[in-house]
Amino acid sequence: MKCAIVTGGSRGIGRAVCLKLAEEKNYHILINYASNEAAAKETLAKVQELGATGEILKFDVANAEETQNVLTTWQDNNPEALVEVIVNNAGITRDGLFMWMKNEDWTSVINTSLNGFFNVTNFFIQKLLRNKYGRIINMVSVSGVKGTAGQTNYSAAKGALVGATKALAQEVAKRNITVNAVAPGFIKTDMTQDFNEEELKAMIPANRFGEAEEVADLVAFLASRKASYITGEVVNINGGIYS
Ligand SMILES: NC(=O)c1ccc[n+]([C@@H]2O[C@H](COP(=O)([O-])OP(=O)(O)OC[C@H]3O[C@@H](n4cnc5c(N)ncnc54)[C@H](OP(=O)(O)O)[C@@H]3O)[C@@H](O)[C@H]2O)c1
Repeated sequence: MKCAIVTGGSRGIGRAVCLKLAEEKNYHILINYASNEAAAKETLAKVQELGATGEILKFDVANAEETQNVLTTWQDNNPEALVEVIVNNAGITRDGLFMWMKNEDWTSVINTSLNGFFNVTNFFIQKLLRNKYGRIINMVSVSGVKGTAGQTNYSAAKGALVGATKALAQEVAKRNITVNAVAPGFIKTDMTQDFNEEELKAMIPANRFGEAEEVADLVAFLASRKASYITGEVVNINGGIYS
């Protein structure tokens, strides 16, 4: 059984990625989430409606021990299963000016995006190397490449993940494993629900927010065999807001 794992697959961009990968029917979809069980179940139902298979894995990617325990139990119960695609998508924001930023706002954002990447990817990497094939896609952000005022924590987490993407890509390229980052601008999800699109779209050349499905199309391409010679890249998907 070949599998793709999508962290934060219950909602938003992660859900759209699960559905896009399900459409292609190459993989059993492992849908990770942290707390929103109903949303995760809805993603699974939609995956199954598309004729693919999947299952839900609940763990907090920021929690190394919990991640290790859940993934070990899953792998022990599914010895034949091979995770070929890892989409490190789980992420949170705790926005605010740096001068007022609390330690918890800094660490929770870093722990989710950056340590989440480590906790999940490190668990699978030796198996990918033995398999001599794999696709790792890290969800970063325009904030991680440009820097965004009010998001020093988030920009740091995503910027660090860009560095990790480029470094790991060089380590594993010989084994046909690609590692890329996708850097969205404003995408319509729960994360941006309080943003005023009417006001903000003026600074976006495309004059609108993006859809989660548009990001998912890019992820699905990077996760496919067609993208074999693309690695260590950061692909912007932001309607022209930054390049
Ligand atoms: N929306 C944008 O404009 C935008 C722009 C650039 C980059 N991004 C990045 O794209 C990714 C997805 O964002 P989104 O807009 O789809 O966000 P979202 O709608 O807020 O969904 C976040 C997802 O991540 C999961 N999650 C959060 N913390 C987690 C943890 N500790 N462990 C496991 N899962 C966790 C959530 O699970 P629960 O349902 O259980 O809470 C949910 O599935 C994030 O990395 C974000 O930084 C988003």
